[in-house]
Amino acid sequence: MADRKRVLTGVKPTGVPHIGNYLGAIRPALELTKTHDAFLFIADLHALTTRQDPKKLTEDTYSVAATWLACGVDPAKTTFYKQSDLPEVTTLAWILSCVTPFGLLNRAHAIKDARAKGATDEDINNGVFSYPVLMAADILLFDIDVVPVGKDQKQHLEIAQEAARKLNNLVGKEVLKTPAAKIDEDVMTVPGLDGRKMSKSYDNTIEIFSTDKQLESKVMSIKTDSTSYGDPLKSEGETIFQLYQLLATPERARVLARQYATGRRDPDQPDTAFPDPKKNYFGWGNAKKALYEVIQERLGPARKEYAKLIEDKPYLRKLLAEGAERARATGSVVLARVSDALGIVR
Ligand code: ADP
Ligand code: TRP
Repeated sequence: MADRKRVLTGVKPTGVPHIGNYLGAIRPALELTKTHDAFLFIADLHALTTRQDPKKLTEDTYSVAATWLACGVDPAKTTFYKQSDLPEVTTLAWILSCVTPFGLLNRAHAIKDARAKGATDEDINNGVFSYPVLMAADILLFDIDVVPVGKDQKQHLEIAQEAARKLNNLVGKEVLKTPAAKIDEDVMTVPGLDGRKMSKSYDNTIEIFSTDKQLESKVMSIKTDSTSYGDPLKSEGETIFQLYQLLATPERARVLARQYATGRRDPDQPDTAFPDPKKNYFGWGNAKKALYEVIQERLGPARKEYAKLIEDKPYLRKLLAEGAERARATGSVVLARVSDALGIVR
């Protein structure tokens, strides 16, 4: 495993994960853990830059841990931990904050957006300002090769690269590895119940780990047009269709595409082959049922596993503690290198 490239990603514990998170973040990250030495962590300190209800932060932290494990993270093969368990991260963050230009952070998107929304420097906390430095420490602590991020995190990655260069320049040798960003330019945008991007902020999500009843009612509430029963269904830009295509096997996805195009459940049968021709119609109700089934099929085992894990907090804590121990063993080597180069006595 030692000669494999290292990949790292962090997830903020904010809210219960939805299918957009699964398809856009969890599934691709899990793919990378197969070919890389993977570091995967819960960015709970980052979550503190916005006001957190303590109870909710605790719940969300467990929820993210259980989600990733239920979706297939193997804690024996992945370094899986919680950011706040690593004092090395915050120490390195401070060191990096002493080489990262104020101007660079002052031009970051998050701070500019906050100001554009009318926040003054009195309203903006230093955590929001320093957010990219903490993120740089998350990454640079482990000699990471690749950080897979969406476009929204690109600037944070660039700041991490710049912080590494600044420190290396200052000490005159490469004590920190400059990570590459793996930016997926066409990261799929998973649509939500109302057709807009699925997002907690739009309240249009389908949670991965709700009960069967909740899942059913969410799927049933997806907005559809008023196509008459038996007419072809519009597939382009349509939520049920897109979610189905992302979750189903290619073969099943092709079947659904034909059902949409013909408005028939079995397009190869004439309607007259049915005692009631309408039995062969394929409408929105059928499409929703198909989607419900494919979600159950694809995520059913993970849903069961999640339900078990979330009830076993001591087990989750134990796994995270073991992960933190492994992460600290790796990170302390890098921090020692940095400390020595700076003349910090240890
Ligand atoms: P939300 O928009 O619900 O608050 P986050 O911003 O917390 O979601 O996103 C967490 C991760 O999930 C990010 O990597 C993000 O790119 C991914 N993600 C969130 N929503 C979607 C979506 N609708 N389609 C694809 N990826 C998504
Ligand atoms: N900022 C990331 C987000 O909002 C979360 C994060 C924190 C992260 N530290 C990281 C992602 C390090 C990748 C690498 O989604």
